[in-house]
Amino acid sequence: MKAIIITKPGGSEVLNFEEKPTPIPNKNEVLISIKAAGLNRSDVAQRKGKYPAPKDAPQDILGLEVSGIIEACGEDVKRWKKGDKVVALLSGGGYAQFVTVDAGSCLPIPKNLSFVEAASLPETVFTVWNNIFQRGALKSGENFLVHGGSSGIGITAIQIAKALGAKVFATAGSDEKCEACKNLGADICINYKDENFEDILKNEGVDVILDMIGGDYVEKNINILNPDGRMVFINAMKGNPKELNIMKMMQKRIMITGSTLRSRDLDFKSALAKEVEKHVWPLVEQGKFKPIIHQVFPLKEAGKAQELMESSEHIGKIILSNE
Ligand SMILES: NC(=O)c1ccc[n+]([C@@H]2O[C@H](COP(=O)([O-])OP(=O)(O)OC[C@H]3O[C@@H](n4cnc5c(N)ncnc54)[C@H](OP(=O)(O)O)[C@@H]3O)[C@@H](O)[C@H]2O)c1
Repeated sequence: MKAIIITKPGGSEVLNFEEKPTPIPNKNEVLISIKAAGLNRSDVAQRKGKYPAPKDAPQDILGLEVSGIIEACGEDVKRWKKGDKVVALLSGGGYAQFVTVDAGSCLPIPKNLSFVEAASLPETVFTVWNNIFQRGALKSGENFLVHGGSSGIGITAIQIAKALGAKVFATAGSDEKCEACKNLGADICINYKDENFEDILKNEGVDVILDMIGGDYVEKNINILNPDGRMVFINAMKGNPKELNIMKMMQKRIMITGSTLRSRDLDFKSALAKEVEKHVWPLVEQGKFKPIIHQVFPLKEAGKAQELMESSEHIGKIILSNE
């Protein structure tokens, strides 16, 4: 098969389009003929050598999510058969023509979605469901804030939170991005380059914050959280906070949590897949949550696709296609 291989850390030039042996599924795995693969910010971090693949993941092929057609099944696989159209959450190996993955990490492609649209879902939807609704326990009628509203994570969080009855706030880095966030359902979107989100949201109050920024956002988040608010981290692009006001956190009974999806075991991912199928797939099929595709590149242009992601000009998801 053809795949994008990474042999050393570096810029987009270290991504090479090469021949690799097609993987063979073990008894619990399926072999997927990949039609499309989603890009994620952590792919860029891995390419730069800042986010090593887990030991049991493909070491030299990036890619955390795909859509495609099942080509073969291991002997213990019950749910799937050759020819089924699926999406899959991976721990690596998506920038290729074929990949093997645990059967429990696959879901059927939601009705009416193309392979490109479907490939944009697993990493962001699994992350959003786990962090906002399971860890953050967001409920209908509560106020929710996502930073990085135009990111793949952001466009997913805004739509699902809105569809499930939350009032939604977002931050993003341009007026155009804020407009896009509002079109997806954000009640208020703050261009953080022009305005301080704390000033605008302190009178609203927020119950759950999904934060990928960290740094000086932590104190501002604590200031705008309601009593019993939850602050959930999925990254810290600005690093650790210099200070944490523990007394204010205690007075408001704020809960601080966070998680990384990639390192979780297969049982966890399989259980999460079932929850996503039950709660999110119906929203996709009812058109309440739509994939937002910024641009599609052929697989061999993965380097260009990652350069676009690093520019942060995109709104929504960037996809690699094998078709
Ligand atoms: N923990 C987990 O399990 C998990 C899973 C998936 C993703 N994540 C994290 O979630 C975040 C979003 O992922 P994604 O794939 O959706 O990313 P993405 O589409 O590339 O979007 C990232 C956006 O963040 C904004 N941003 C704000 N401050 C930034 C900074 N200091 N450096 C770079 N970008 C900054 C940029 O938009 P603006 O113009 O608004 O600044 C950028 O477009 C990433 O940090 C990723 O690592 C975590």
